[in-house]
Amino acid sequence: MLELSNISFCAEAEKEILKNINMTVQDGEFLVITGPNGGGKSTLAKVIAGIETPSGGSILLDGNDITKESITARAKAGVSFAFQQPVRFKGITVRDMVQMAAQQPLSDQQISSYLWSVGLCAKEYLDREVNAELSGGEMKRVEIAGVMAKQTKLAIFDEPEAGIDLWSFKNLIDIFQKMRENMDGSIIVISHQERILEIADEIMVLSGGEITARGKRQEILPQLLKAEGDCQFCAKKERGCCE
Ligand SMILES: Nc1ncnc2c1ncn2[C@@H]1O[C@H](COP(=O)(O)OP(=O)(O)OP(=O)(O)O)[C@@H](O)[C@H]1O
Ligand SMILES: [Mg+2]
Repeated sequence: MLELSNISFCAEAEKEILKNINMTVQDGEFLVITGPNGGGKSTLAKVIAGIETPSGGSILLDGNDITKESITARAKAGVSFAFQQPVRFKGITVRDMVQMAAQQPLSDQQISSYLWSVGLCAKEYLDREVNAELSGGEMKRVEIAGVMAKQTKLAIFDEPEAGIDLWSFKNLIDIFQKMRENMDGSIIVISHQERILEIADEIMVLSGGEITARGKRQEILPQLLKAEGDCQFCAKKERGCCE
């Protein structure tokens, strides 16, 4: 279980990007975080993964305080993260990247099956470098394959749909469903897509650095899809008031 208590994050410019965030994610839970651009979603994901250090508050994973742990220590503790904009590395192949993400020895056959499940032909991609030549969507898929390859307590995906074409998007939904069946841990997906919101157990809305809604999908999704004229992200009645 992941527990965040009173998490805040201030950028150098003293701008408060996350304000007193309190949230828990249960084992086996599939949580989708949504909200307007600039609401703080990616920052929250980076704080959980250890890429950014919170200005205040604490993060517990299965009761252990990981607030001060490094990215590597958190990865070892079972946190994995797929970036909104994946990082590219010259000289590293797709095979290396999935292997590194998995943090355990994998055969080519195993790596290939992960690549297949994200719609990449293994023969064509195993030896390709994850450099600027890979398209945005290809890069995104390699990263998702990496997270899938890792047996993890908590997997965080930041806008996995970004740059993914329609055919692959349908597969992406299947991938999440499969991951959810096969893992004991939790999945957090940051997304603006209704199709992803539809498969959530819980939905959380982050706006202006604060949680403005959190609850079961059945309760939150209808609020988000409310009639035109209402704000998409909060209980107020003014369209666009959170943007
Ligand atoms: N290191 C930083 N320094 C200053 N401002 C930052 C920093 N990181 C993020 N921000 C600002 O914090 C706010 C939240 O950014 P964040 O990337 O978390 O939003 P988001 O909810 O992921 O948005 P999107 O839906 O567009 O991906 C934005 O206004 C952003 O410009
Ligand atoms: Mg973001």
